[in-house]
Amino acid sequence: MQIIRGLKGLGGAVDALKAGGRLAMVPTMGALHDGHLALVEAGREKAGRVMASIFVNPLQFNDKDDLDRYPRQEESDAENLYAAGCDLLWIPSADDLYPEGFSTSVSVSCLTERWEGAHRPGHFDGVTTVVAKLLIAARPDMAIFGEKDFQQLAIIRRMVTDLGLPVEIVGHSTIRAADGLALSSRNALLGAEERKSAPALARSLEEAAERIRDGETPAKVLAEAKAKVSEAGFGPIDYLAYVDEATLEPLEKRRGGSRLIAAAFLGKIRLIDNLRVI
Ligand code: PAJ
Repeated sequence: MQIIRGLKGLGGAVDALKAGGRLAMVPTMGALHDGHLALVEAGREKAGRVMASIFVNPLQFNDKDDLDRYPRQEESDAENLYAAGCDLLWIPSADDLYPEGFSTSVSVSCLTERWEGAHRPGHFDGVTTVVAKLLIAARPDMAIFGEKDFQQLAIIRRMVTDLGLPVEIVGHSTIRAADGLALSSRNALLGAEERKSAPALARSLEEAAERIRDGETPAKVLAEAKAKVSEAGFGPIDYLAYVDEATLEPLEKRRGGSRLIAAAFLGKIRLIDNLRVI
């Protein structure tokens, strides 16, 4: 696996990989776990060649503490990527992506307004700006993103279509721990007791999905799911909602192409999750 820091050499390395077939890219912020590595393996299977990027993007953190706390472990990340079959690891710096005087922003409307967008002002502008920059610099044929961040995936699809970027966006299902907790770099920040309570979020979504499938009224199911999540020690709950998968608008009645989405704090750590209903 080749490791490239900065922009120098990136173009040549990408051209060499593309000469051998299609190239998939997995953009990440590091602190890699089996969820990220599943994306890398899927990229290898789908495209033949795969690259990953690691960049903890300051633009998308609306809380400075969250940025400072974000785990960084480049050496073990590189080892794990190598073991997962990654061909190229690209590690740009903030100066590479945001040259002095940087004053451009990529912003998607509508899809960004609710949910994560409402609770993390500016977050999605930071995500779309950096993902546009990463895709333009690396020129992969395909880029893989996790359904774990369902709203992010929908927004990136929208951006790529709207800007006509020549890249196929592929979504990958959420990878979970044995107890159901969606894998996340932030899980490492949970205390031992919090870690024990954390699977309650996924469990409540599972139960709620089952009940909506069975025909119970979403509003009632959501209220009870929120109560369960609070009882397990979560709070505040930013949202726990039943939405249309394409528009992310809330649904009052059961419908095909629908999902439960949730975000809640456990102590200082904010966890998000989502689950397909039907
Ligand atoms: P990060 O949180 O590092 O996630 C990188 C990719 O891994 C994202 O596409 C995310 O959805 C996916 N992922 C994380 N946990 C997962 C899990 N348990 N199962 C499946 N996929 C999972 O998301 C970001 O970084 C950033 O916003 C980024 C897109 C890199 C832009 O900075």
